[in-house]
Amino acid sequence: MRYQSLGRTGLNVSVAGLGCGGHSRLGTAYGKDLDHAASIVRLAVEHGVNYIDTAESYKTEPAVARALRDLDRDKLVLSTKAGLWTRDDVPMPTADEFIAKLDGSLRTLGVETIDVYHVHALAEHQIDYALSDILPALEHAKKQGKIRFLAVSEVFHHDPAHATLPALMRRTDAFDVFMVGLNALNFSARRAVLPMSRERGIGVEVMFAVRKALTDPAHLRETVAGLIASGQVDADQVDADDPLGFLVDDETPTVMDAGYRFCAHEPGCHTVLFGTGNPDHLRDNIASLNKPTLSADKLAQLATLFGRVDSVSGN
Ligand SMILES: NC(=O)c1ccc[n+]([C@@H]2O[C@H](COP(=O)([O-])OP(=O)(O)OC[C@H]3O[C@@H](n4cnc5c(N)ncnc54)[C@H](OP(=O)(O)O)[C@@H]3O)[C@@H](O)[C@H]2O)c1
Repeated sequence: MRYQSLGRTGLNVSVAGLGCGGHSRLGTAYGKDLDHAASIVRLAVEHGVNYIDTAESYKTEPAVARALRDLDRDKLVLSTKAGLWTRDDVPMPTADEFIAKLDGSLRTLGVETIDVYHVHALAEHQIDYALSDILPALEHAKKQGKIRFLAVSEVFHHDPAHATLPALMRRTDAFDVFMVGLNALNFSARRAVLPMSRERGIGVEVMFAVRKALTDPAHLRETVAGLIASGQVDADQVDADDPLGFLVDDETPTVMDAGYRFCAHEPGCHTVLFGTGNPDHLRDNIASLNKPTLSADKLAQLATLFGRVDSVSGN
């Protein structure tokens, strides 16, 4: 396993980070039980993963807690989150309610400190409130030792052009870690987020490296057809039937392999989250994330085909 510093946090993190949310939620999204979910966490750690990302809303904190019974907590970097989202008619959580969620995560995980605590899926219109009401409470919790580093995750499927994180960085440098959407179809973070986050030494976790567009060929075709229709991809340059087929060869057995390798070597990115409930996928993804990057020709072709894309997440 390759490890690197999560930006200025100095935390030494595995390039492969286990995501306990996404479409799989460690398999619980499709009927697997708590024991199975915990076994996925343990298997990841056995393979060298030390970064584990969960969230109050994923309902997988109990699985992480169960796995922790058999693991050395001090060797792991635990990341979790709580969001500000509500239904239209309900106000955003107060600072006290937000800290109650943090306390709930500490209790559920059975730990005294969360290493990386995120404001989950922050939207641009929530920045004012997050800074005026939630940030002071989080900084207090940090002083109390409940949190080591403050973080924010963006809402990539609603904010694929990354409006939120640059707007946040223009207002504050209080957050040490960002969770950023990046994949072989939409790598606009390279322009919109990473230059500023690198300059500041912000640690970056990649999400959406491989989502439905990279696991389901029909979904990929549909996504690329939409990009052609919107003018972000040139129809005469792309193979509409197999848009990423050029990535696959003897050294790159699948589009997923290519997708993870593409993200693992992006400058300014430190750990790439993969979500799975499948032990074989887990092993494959860790292997992919530890391989060299794609060939220069393939990277150049991706830039030619998808370099203007900033409107899809690949969800
Ligand atoms: N705003 C946010 O804060 C936010 C949003 C999204 C995600 N996240 C975090 O990021 C993590 C990763 O999420 P993600 O969006 O990248 O993806 P994801 O939805 O967790 O996972 C990728 C999907 O591809 C499948 N898959 C994984 N490896 C595969 C392989 N080798 N072959 C075939 N299928 C494979 C998985 O299903 P199987 O179970 O069948 O493998 C899963 O459905 C999440 O778990 C979560 O921790 C955060």
